[in-house]
Amino acid sequence: MTLQEHLAGELAAARARTLLLTDHDEPELLRQHTPLLSPLVWDLAHVGQQEDLWLLRGGNAACRGLLPPDVEALYDAFTHPRAQRARLPLLPPVEARAFCAEVRGRVLDRLERLGRDDDGDPFPFAMVVSHEQQHDETMLQALGVRTGPPLLGTGSPLPPGRPGVAGTAVAVAGGEFVLGADAADEPFSLDNERPAHRVHVPAYRLGRVPVTNAEYAAFVADGGYDQPRWWSPRGWAHRVEAGLERPQFWGTDGSRTRFGVVEELPPDEPVQHVTAFEAEAYAAWAGGTGAAPAGARLPTEAEWEKAAVWDPATGRRRRFPWGDSEPTPALANLGGAALRPAPVGAYPAGASPCGAEQLLGDVWEWTSSDLTPWPGFRPMLYADYSAPFFGGGYRVLRGGSWAVGPSILRPSFRNWDHPFRRQVFAGFRLAWSADEPGA
Ligand code: AVJ
Ligand code: FE
Repeated sequence: MTLQEHLAGELAAARARTLLLTDHDEPELLRQHTPLLSPLVWDLAHVGQQEDLWLLRGGNAACRGLLPPDVEALYDAFTHPRAQRARLPLLPPVEARAFCAEVRGRVLDRLERLGRDDDGDPFPFAMVVSHEQQHDETMLQALGVRTGPPLLGTGSPLPPGRPGVAGTAVAVAGGEFVLGADAADEPFSLDNERPAHRVHVPAYRLGRVPVTNAEYAAFVADGGYDQPRWWSPRGWAHRVEAGLERPQFWGTDGSRTRFGVVEELPPDEPVQHVTAFEAEAYAAWAGGTGAAPAGARLPTEAEWEKAAVWDPATGRRRRFPWGDSEPTPALANLGGAALRPAPVGAYPAGASPCGAEQLLGDVWEWTSSDLTPWPGFRPMLYADYSAPFFGGGYRVLRGGSWAVGPSILRPSFRNWDHPFRRQVFAGFRLAWSADEPGA
């Protein structure tokens, strides 16, 4: 397969997913499910608008695109906060789809020319694929918050979990490793993943798998949400102000609601829809009550990435936790069709060199790290993808949820959100510094 064929396939896969997620009637697409997220019809046209900007105009916004300038301006994420997008005179779904299709036709012509043009750069095509796939996940977040009869069904089957892995940990030796990615190894890595650089990480232990619903339910049942001692001051203030009592979508009767379907809470699934503050409070509770070894905390993102890729036997990074091969349904739960994480222990073949499992797929994992640039950071063509968010109090999430498109995910991929958000398909795993008595 040529690179052009590969990118054409990636563009087509992202678009098929976008169209599937927006295959609803007009009122449904215009609904604003939460001020935190856009109506789906905004995401739809925004995907086309960004593709027009990056691939047909080389990022030059002064150059006129396919939409009239006043219409195009509606899809600028920086000038129109999500909460206000439903009130904008947005393109109706039929027009939004036609616009996206028109852009795509021209993009495929450009892609074909790239094959004949020696100095053409494939990166912007991959960047646009990543952008569309990321919006597909955002749309799923909106559909998760949506109320009303189910729209998406219950999701495709997943492998069973393995008993005995929940609550266990793996050891990672202290020492240097290579954090991040370079264009030479990962040509489609985004700006915030670059450059690769050596960092020293002291010895630590890491949860073999993410914390499960059953483990988290023990924290809830023990009154964890009533005891400020387990919470950071900021986390407690948020818990009180937002009235948090359990993860989002959990009932008080051992049920949960998932895309409109009410079902029994699966005990062995990684917990989802918690804020970073709840994750931190769980860690403090677990380490403080003996539910987990003492000193439990969230991992730093360097700890997360080292456990995912560093092979001490070779002194090199693996491309993926399990090796160099691309993700498959036997290795990781990705792509969105499952509509839920797999139970812990479902992917023994996906284990990393240190034995950690389910690092890619299932749930985004909160880390203790704020989003900052790696030393030597340089913005990419889409210069406002990362840079405006550095130092803005955003918390890094690693790993990638069940909703992430498999082709855009790398162990160096960095996601972020405010630590108080929980519409994200996010859970967490625990970590311990090796000098802690319990580790
Ligand atoms: C990387 C997921 C935090 O949704 O705000 C989409 C991705 N950036 N369009 C976001 C993104 C521009 C971004 N996240
Ligand atoms: Fe966007």
